[in-house]
Amino acid sequence: MEQPVLQAKDLYFSYDGKVNALDGVSLDIHAGERIAVLGPNGAGKSTFFLCLNGVLTPARGEIVLDGRPVDKKGRKRLCERAGIVFQNADDQIIASTVAAEVSFGPMNLRLPKDEVARRVDHALDYMDLQAFRARPPHELSGGEKKRVTIADILAMESEVILFDEPAASLDPAGEERLEGVLGRLSAGGRTLVISTHDMDFAFRWATRAVVFAGGKIIADGAPETVFRDAETLRRAHLKPPMLLGVFELLRARGLAPADAACPASVEGLAALLDGAEPPACGR
Ligand SMILES: Nc1ncnc2c1ncn2[C@@H]1O[C@H](COP(=O)(O)OP(=O)(O)O)[C@@H](O)[C@H]1O
Ligand SMILES: [Mg+2]
Repeated sequence: MEQPVLQAKDLYFSYDGKVNALDGVSLDIHAGERIAVLGPNGAGKSTFFLCLNGVLTPARGEIVLDGRPVDKKGRKRLCERAGIVFQNADDQIIASTVAAEVSFGPMNLRLPKDEVARRVDHALDYMDLQAFRARPPHELSGGEKKRVTIADILAMESEVILFDEPAASLDPAGEERLEGVLGRLSAGGRTLVISTHDMDFAFRWATRAVVFAGGKIIADGAPETVFRDAETLRRAHLKPPMLLGVFELLRARGLAPADAACPASVEGLAALLDGAEPPACGR
């Protein structure tokens, strides 16, 4: 298998020196993967993301980027290559206009002025934010702020993007828009790691599901395999996706083929029931 783009090796992290927020976490992330990170509140997902991009330094273990362990000097390159979209936009936004906010990252990279301008323009176009250029971010709606924080990371041109519960503050239209952006980023070759409590989204979107509980990874595999593991669901208090339940019911009634994998989407299920090829989108 090819070299993972980013690796966590046996990470330990504690905020108070007593309880381990991360308790021996290892994960290999390969280019182009779409990883859903699942698990209850307090399981260590955010801490893991912050260690992965170098905001926090693990007490033990290491982060490996393109096969090379990241030391103090490599930290800057790590946060360039692996960008994080914070759960709470207000924790990320620092500048007084949208354009200044999105240019902050590339300016910090000391890129030439016209390259900074090009990246900002591209990121604002991508997130449909050109009309907001001169607006103060704190005046924007939750969904608009979320788009600004994604534009921040796009302007860094990070290869890996970590999204910490990106849908948490969004309405259904905002969620749909976000999923569209995630689809385009993935089709463009980006590696995406997303923590979420939305099992239906995780099931239709992810190529891999990683489950956290008590600071450890307790399951890692194909979404269908992970969601069929009753012990994992119990330990992490997860509910299986609705589609998998419906599919099981159809199979039990002899209405779906006994040997087929569960389709990732309702459209895929319709295609399976009609005996057609599943749609190309999703898994
Ligand atoms: N800034 C912090 N200070 C102290 N403890 C924290 C802080 N952030 C998280 N923790 C603790 O670390 C553990 C893991 O939290 P977190 O990584 O935020 O989990 P998740 O993102 O899965 O909800 C929890 O026990 C939480 O209370
Ligand atoms: Mg969190």
